[in-house]
Amino acid sequence: LTVKDMVDEHVLVTAGPTREPFDPVRFITNYSSGKMGYAVATMARRRGATVTLVSGPVQLPIPAGVFHVSVSSAREMRDAVMAALPEATVVIKAAAVADYRPAVRQDQKIKKKNEDLTVKLERNPDIIHEIGAKKEDRILVGFAMESEHLVEHAIGKMVAKNMDFIVANDVTKEGAGFQGDTNIITILDRDGEMQELPLMDKMEAAGVILDKVREIRERRRSQ
Ligand code: PMT
Repeated sequence: LTVKDMVDEHVLVTAGPTREPFDPVRFITNYSSGKMGYAVATMARRRGATVTLVSGPVQLPIPAGVFHVSVSSAREMRDAVMAALPEATVVIKAAAVADYRPAVRQDQKIKKKNEDLTVKLERNPDIIHEIGAKKEDRILVGFAMESEHLVEHAIGKMVAKNMDFIVANDVTKEGAGFQGDTNIITILDRDGEMQELPLMDKMEAAGVILDKVREIRERRRSQ
């Protein structure tokens, strides 16, 4: 039996990869399956929250009872997230957003030539940074996917982007990060608390992340 301890919250979750097209048939992307974000959305709904799930292209069933918005590129994800933001009391950004996109998207398929091809990439919007600037009394949770210096890099991102806490995962560890049903997460918060968790199912990891959201909400209420 799940305790309905989030009925007062509207949780906005992002999940999955983004696709950044070169032409009508090719794009840059990454290995995100969406499982981590979908697990957060599923668990938040079970705990009674209203949930909006903004998702990049993934092969997962839509969790029951959530508002689902399907997007492809980082810019589409930004627009969908900013549109949903006014209603949200909690934002959890589990998506793996491409930092760069091809500067030009050709209308026709790029033809093969007998020479190398150079494609210029330009910066995508940093969605969580934009949310951080409009945080108000929302609880803002980011993820950090790292392959080295997990804790330092994650703390740097948390502070730079005005997050309340960050969930760090090391993609080089077996059983952590992309694709699988499990993750190994470290939760770091603004008070310098660090919670290093063992390998667990992504559903269970989602539960721990939501417990941390509840703890911050209670702490704020009692201040
Ligand atoms: O989807 P799965 O296969 O289950 O894998 C889960 C996961 C590894 C994708 C997930 O656990 C995870 O770590 N997601 C965040 C990956 C990521 O993009 O990390 P980052 O360190 O590049 O970004 C830091 C934070 O900024 C993230 O919350 C990200 O959503 C956000 N961001 C990043 C770039 C950008 N342009 N806009 C953003 O909002």
